[in-house]
Amino acid sequence: MQDIDALRNEILEQVTNTGNLDALEQLRVAELGKKGRISGLMKGLGGMSPEERQTAGPALNGLKNDVADAIQNAKDALENAALDARLAGETIDITLPVAPLAQGTLHPISQVLDEITEIFAEMGFTVAEGPEIENDFYNFTALNIPAEHPARQMHDTFYFDADENGERKVLRTHTSPVQVRTMETSKPPLRIIAPGRTYRCDSDQTHTPMFHQVEGLVIDEKTHMGHLKGCLETFCKAFFEIDNVKMRFRPSYFPFTEPSAEMDIGCSRKDGEMRIGEGDDWLEILGCGMVHPKVLEYSGIDSSRYQGFAFGMGIDRLAMLKYGIPDLRAFFDTDLRWLRHYGFRTLDVPTLGQGISGGSS
Ligand code: PHE
Repeated sequence: MQDIDALRNEILEQVTNTGNLDALEQLRVAELGKKGRISGLMKGLGGMSPEERQTAGPALNGLKNDVADAIQNAKDALENAALDARLAGETIDITLPVAPLAQGTLHPISQVLDEITEIFAEMGFTVAEGPEIENDFYNFTALNIPAEHPARQMHDTFYFDADENGERKVLRTHTSPVQVRTMETSKPPLRIIAPGRTYRCDSDQTHTPMFHQVEGLVIDEKTHMGHLKGCLETFCKAFFEIDNVKMRFRPSYFPFTEPSAEMDIGCSRKDGEMRIGEGDDWLEILGCGMVHPKVLEYSGIDSSRYQGFAFGMGIDRLAMLKYGIPDLRAFFDTDLRWLRHYGFRTLDVPTLGQGISGGSS
């Protein structure tokens, strides 16, 4: 008994002095593990006389329990201390105001893209994507622009050098190839928008070699021009946040739509300032039309059964218009003063419920 008490004191002292979880585990194995010291003593019970066992048995059991409890308590204490230390190190005062800390701003293009996505998502559109490095088939041929077609010249295409198969990839000149890619991989009914970067060899106050477009595509069995008009009207009202925005459709030509149209919105131009929703002037903002049956067929869709519309608009241009930004080239100058002036608060996510540009800077 004397020995057991001494042993208990010795082990408990070790438990107290053990400062980390690994050492504690080693101690547990050394005492309570299969080959541990206490387990060894328990095995000795078998060789004792019944009288001896009567006192030694409970004493050893008590020792085992005391040691197990002490180790468990020490373990809990170490784990709690580690958690407390971690929590203390990661303290965040969530009552601090965010504004002075929020250094960065959202670029107007990101903001406008979020606004556009929000509006079309509300109308049931999902977002599709395609590659910026395209091949000739998707950028041109499948869109009913065969080789030697004059429309190819209109696009001021950036061509890559020919690869080993003689194929020349292009930087996509519009987001329309995503129409074909989407129709190839998904079955109608389809309702998608495809935003992204596009490239043309062009540069002046209103053109940059890289710019952004958003494509729209709706395919089912009955969609017609009336739906196209209604859809774009809903979009314009929501985007410009004015009810009486004037719109007109002009007949136009795109090889991949038939009939094709361009949409203008009413504006005024006075003293170099442009205002949407007033005045007698017009400004073109997008191209659209009913998807050409040949494009449907190129994409593996039965044109005798399915039809629909497509549209494409310049995101940068919409951003300039809505937020009164005069020079497109400044969009890509990464001038901090410009970004601070035209940028948007990152935490103000556009929602239709709150007014999509409610968070303008
Ligand atoms: N891809 C055309 C352009 O870049 C726009 C467009 C898209 C026109 C879809 C009609 C339908 O000018």
